[in-house]
Amino acid sequence: MNCLETLSYGNRILKLNNIDSYKLDSELLLANVMKISREELLINLQEKLDRIKLNKFIKLIERRSKNEPIAYIFKKKEFWKFNFAVDNNVLIPRPETEIIVEEVLKLTNFKSSKQFLDIGTGSGCIIISIIKERPFSIGTALDISKKAINLAISNAKMHHILNKIKFVNISVDKYLGNKYDFIVSNPPYINSVEYNRLEKNVRFEPHVAFKAGADGLSEIKKLILKSKNLLRINGKLIFEIGSKQMKQVINLLKKNGFYINKICNDIQSIPRVIISTKIF
Ligand SMILES: C[S@@+](CC[C@H](N)C(=O)[O-])C[C@H]1O[C@@H](n2cnc3c(N)ncnc32)[C@H](O)[C@@H]1O
Repeated sequence: MNCLETLSYGNRILKLNNIDSYKLDSELLLANVMKISREELLINLQEKLDRIKLNKFIKLIERRSKNEPIAYIFKKKEFWKFNFAVDNNVLIPRPETEIIVEEVLKLTNFKSSKQFLDIGTGSGCIIISIIKERPFSIGTALDISKKAINLAISNAKMHHILNKIKFVNISVDKYLGNKYDFIVSNPPYINSVEYNRLEKNVRFEPHVAFKAGADGLSEIKKLILKSKNLLRINGKLIFEIGSKQMKQVINLLKKNGFYINKICNDIQSIPRVIISTKIF
């Protein structure tokens, strides 16, 4: 079989299994098997595949047919300007979370020497991107999952900044630390009803990355209470929220001594990131 025939087989199987991005995914999987870029694949469609490569491709198509995310199949995901190793112990970094990094960069400059705390670090994508961009700053990253912390440590090693970030395996409510200039977080914020509806799409990712009690606010409440203690006066708390949580979260922040600086929308115009300042 040549690449064109192989791709049309992949497209057919993925389409039959209701994978919306079937065409792109087949191309990515075949390019991976051929060890070339997707662009190179598309200009060499007549190239023949040997049996070994074909079998490898069929196996990858089977995994994708069962909804396994491409990022887990490839064991990596791009976030901000960098690549991160991912596995099924961590959330796959999402593009909307890059807003947090973007806002931190607007509030600091290359020479800033600040202390950052990342709560629920997962793969480490937020804190590692920030410290790469602000190399005179240092960070601490927490996660309740030991396996997530281990992966975040290997990502920090891969990016040569393990000496600048302290990783701690602990629940946010138990953490006692120093004072920070910035606290950043993409906390779990999905309520139980919404989680059951989403489950098909996110079932490969760890529950602990999504689930936040009956109202979806349990982890955001912990985050705000802890930030109230750990932020310096005028320190910034910047975090991601769920699609219908803006009003409730603003109230919680105000009650706890925070001023709301800005709400950033994601590309679907959904309020997604809140920037607030601890004023008392
Ligand atoms: C939505 S994921 C975010 C991961 C990563 N920061 C990102 O944006 O891709 C939330 C993370 O919070 C962690 N987590 C959940 N509850 C926690 C808690 N009580 N204390 C600390 N971390 C927690 C989960 O293990 C998960 O890694």
